[in-house]
Amino acid sequence: MRVKVKYLRHRSIWAIICLAAGLLLIAASSELPEHYWQQPSASSTKQHHDWSDLEKDLRPEACAQCHDSQFQAWKHSFHAHAYSEGLIGQFPGMGNHSRGNNCLVCHAPLKEQQYQSDDDMLESLKIKIRQPEGVNAEADLEAATVPLRHTGVSCAVCHVRGLERFGPPRMGSKQTGHIQTDVHGGFTANKGFEQSQFCASCHQFAQSNAINGKPLENTVKEWQESSFAAKGVTCQVCHMPHRRHEFKGIHHPAMVRKGLEINVKKSHGVAQIVIHSVGVGHAFPTYVTPKVVVTAIARDRNNIKVKQWQWEIIREVRYRAGAWEEARDTRIMPDERRLYRADQAPTTTTTVQFQVRVIPDAFYRGVYESLLAGTPSEKAETLLKTALKRTHSSEFNLFDDVVKLH
Ligand code: HEC
Ligand code: HEC
Ligand code: HEC
Ligand code: HEC
Ligand code: HEC
Repeated sequence: MRVKVKYLRHRSIWAIICLAAGLLLIAASSELPEHYWQQPSASSTKQHHDWSDLEKDLRPEACAQCHDSQFQAWKHSFHAHAYSEGLIGQFPGMGNHSRGNNCLVCHAPLKEQQYQSDDDMLESLKIKIRQPEGVNAEADLEAATVPLRHTGVSCAVCHVRGLERFGPPRMGSKQTGHIQTDVHGGFTANKGFEQSQFCASCHQFAQSNAINGKPLENTVKEWQESSFAAKGVTCQVCHMPHRRHEFKGIHHPAMVRKGLEINVKKSHGVAQIVIHSVGVGHAFPTYVTPKVVVTAIARDRNNIKVKQWQWEIIREVRYRAGAWEEARDTRIMPDERRLYRADQAPTTTTTVQFQVRVIPDAFYRGVYESLLAGTPSEKAETLLKTALKRTHSSEFNLFDDVVKLH
């Protein structure tokens, strides 16, 4: 991915100024309220009698009446689909709603989205959760019939606490703190929205849960150790370009291509592929759930396959005897150049074809298959089958090219 140099320069100057001013400045102006991510709640004991029904409404479709561009981008994102079949299909087997709520802390975290009882949880599984275009296909308030819980990581999850709207400073402005406007009592502008730490409560686990030194989710730390952190290129710069609420990731071929430069060539008579991580701000891939497979196929002059090589880019973990263990970690780190060689090709080889295939949900495929092999309830079975199907349809070819040897 290319980052505009002008923008970078501006950002790094700010980083230096902030450092010089010391931590006090950062604490005073750029941090979210202390409990922002602890048991977030969008209700308040305070009533807003002067608000219209629309202003009180927390559904994304309500926000969309005035913030349509954010809604149009968000509705296609995985945040809008976080209350997914694959998630809730696991709940009947877990038995009780409080264990379900432990998962909702990231997938649908508002107090208003939590299960109140086991019945509440089981009822919730009966409601159809996904339309072809997403949970909330249109910004149509009347058609928006699913409960707030089903909208997953919705607008209010990131922006509303106790009926106060929080957001970044207005574009081009440095003003922070409460800003009065005519609608929903104004909003609180906070620089925390522009920082990578904003994403940490759901995309970074504590070091105390490390497996082989690294937590299962380690995205923010990987970013901090990369050159992108030093350059001020935050999660938002790549995942919310120009504040667009796209949140594209490993499921989007164009996004993955932007992050990598892939080249094949013949070097000293050997065909090779180089994958250079130029625009991924963390390990590629950052999670333990995707798998990327690099294949090389040698063919002779009759186009018959004479040899095949395969390499996997993955952080593979296993749950064994009550504990997680890491089997291997072959992921590509930011700025790293990874070389794979089609060594010892038979002398009859004329061409070597290189392919890179991305399987974004490889780990979950195994999870769903093993749950389905047990005795899931009828409801769970339907949900898990849908989820399993999606792990197949999300696979894609990232790269395909041929090197001529002779
Ligand atoms: C009736 C129209 C309306 C509705 C409905 C509405 N907003 Fe707003 N919102 C506004 C206006 C107007 C502003 C002020 C923009 C400004 O002055 O910069 C604003 C500001 C904001 C901001 C601050 C933007 C910034 O620059 O940081 C956020 C965040 C926000 N709204 C989120 C929401 C969310 C989330 C919802 C739904 C739960 C919502 N709004 C519903 C009209 C609306
Ligand atoms: C409240 C928790 C929460 C916060 C805060 C949050 N995310 Fe997420 N994010 C999730 C969950 C849960 C998923 C997975 C959704 C699913 O598919 O079920 C996700 C998915 C994603 C994906 C899609 C990955 C893919 O598989 O393609 C990206 C990219 C992403 N988040 C980026 C961000 C960024 C950047 C921020 C900060 C600006 C952020 N997230 C903040 C919970 C959160
Ligand atoms: C700390 C935050 C967090 C918690 C807690 C959490 N998840 Fe997730 N989950 C994520 C993120 C981020 C992703 C997207 C990245 C990935 O695929 O690993 C995700 C993805 C998923 C997916 C694949 C995408 C989808 O929605 O189909 C499933 C299934 C899932 N989680 C199930 C669960 C279950 C079950 C629990 C509770 C046992 C749980 N999660 C708890 C953050 C969380
Ligand atoms: C995962 C967290 C997350 C979710 C979900 C989310 N936002 Fe945001 N939003 C952000 C962040 C972070 C920023 C600031 C991005 C930046 O500064 O680069 C932002 C910025 C905004 C702004 C200010 C935009 C501007 O151009 O100044 C508005 C308005 C807004 N969001 C509304 C919404 C609405 C409406 C929804 C739901 C359709 C929504 N957001 C969903 C995290 C989120
Ligand atoms: C320099 C750009 C860049 C920065 C900075 C960046 N990302 Fe990414 N991110 C990408 C690209 C490109 C992909 C797609 C390739 C991949 O999956 O690694 C991606 C993928 C993801 C995914 C998909 C899951 C996976 O296993 O890869 C998540 C989740 C994510 N990023 C979250 C974050 C968070 C949180 C931050 C900040 C701590 C962040 N990203 C910073 C470029 C960036």
